[in-house]
Amino acid sequence: MTLGELYNHCKLILKDSSANNVEDSEIKIILDIFLGVKTKDLILNKEKKLNQEEVQKVLNAISLRLKHIPLQYIIGNWEFMGLKLEVGQGVLIPREDTSVIVNEIISNFKNKSDIKIIDLCSGSGCIALALEKNLNKNSIIYALEKSDTAYEFLCRNLDKHNSNIIPMKKNVLTDFKEFEDSFFDCIVSNPPYIKNEELPLLQKEVLFEPKMALDGGRDGIYFYKNICKLWNSKLKPGGMIAFEIGKGQFYNVKKIMLNQGFESITFKEDINGIKRAIMGIKSF
Ligand SMILES: C[S@@+](CC[C@H](N)C(=O)[O-])C[C@H]1O[C@@H](n2cnc3c(N)ncnc32)[C@H](O)[C@@H]1O
Repeated sequence: MTLGELYNHCKLILKDSSANNVEDSEIKIILDIFLGVKTKDLILNKEKKLNQEEVQKVLNAISLRLKHIPLQYIIGNWEFMGLKLEVGQGVLIPREDTSVIVNEIISNFKNKSDIKIIDLCSGSGCIALALEKNLNKNSIIYALEKSDTAYEFLCRNLDKHNSNIIPMKKNVLTDFKEFEDSFFDCIVSNPPYIKNEELPLLQKEVLFEPKMALDGGRDGIYFYKNICKLWNSKLKPGGMIAFEIGKGQFYNVKKIMLNQGFESITFKEDINGIKRAIMGIKSF
């Protein structure tokens, strides 16, 4: 089979499929990742002969996509803020939206030295690694994650990027006592924040991602309540707590933060105008 024939064959498979969940553009990504074929090759090298193994790799990937397995899991890695991160079943795929909170912390702390930050519910380590890449090199960053599988991805990603981040396999709800009071300049978290009842309604692709990464309890705000309450004393006076939040969660999370004594609450929107990050300062 030639490259051009394979591309057209894949387009036909997608067209004929009832799953209707895969974009033609994903074929190009799959061809690039598995065969190193660039879009221009589809015109310039369309007559190139492919061997059976090459054809099979691409067809396997397409068939997994038709079963709603996320493209990122099939590829095995995904890029977040210029960092290539290993992902797979058992760890949340880093989302573009998460760069909103990371950029906010970078702009607040970029000129400061010797800061201590903890990323709670760290998953792949995307937040912690993007902070390490962009903040002063003497910053000390901890990354805390409970899930066994996600923790393995976290550690591999830290290794791949020669990171000095300190990974901790801990439960955010019980293991806060391990740190001294007034220890951190910044606590950041993108915790699970989907309401229980909304979980079954999620896109089929998202259902392949770990429930532990998504389930935010009955009202979606379980982790915000607990992190604000349990980790408050670990933040220095004047330190910042920063969360990623879901659509429509801003006022509820703001109320939780105010109740716990945080002040100067601000937010940042994502490119769709959704309030995606919320920040508060611990009073002196
Ligand atoms: C929404 S994901 C965020 C992952 C990553 N920070 C990101 O932005 O892509 C939430 C993460 O919290 C972890 N998690 C859930 N419950 C936890 C707990 N009690 N303690 C620590 N981590 C927890 C999940 O395993 C998951 O990796």
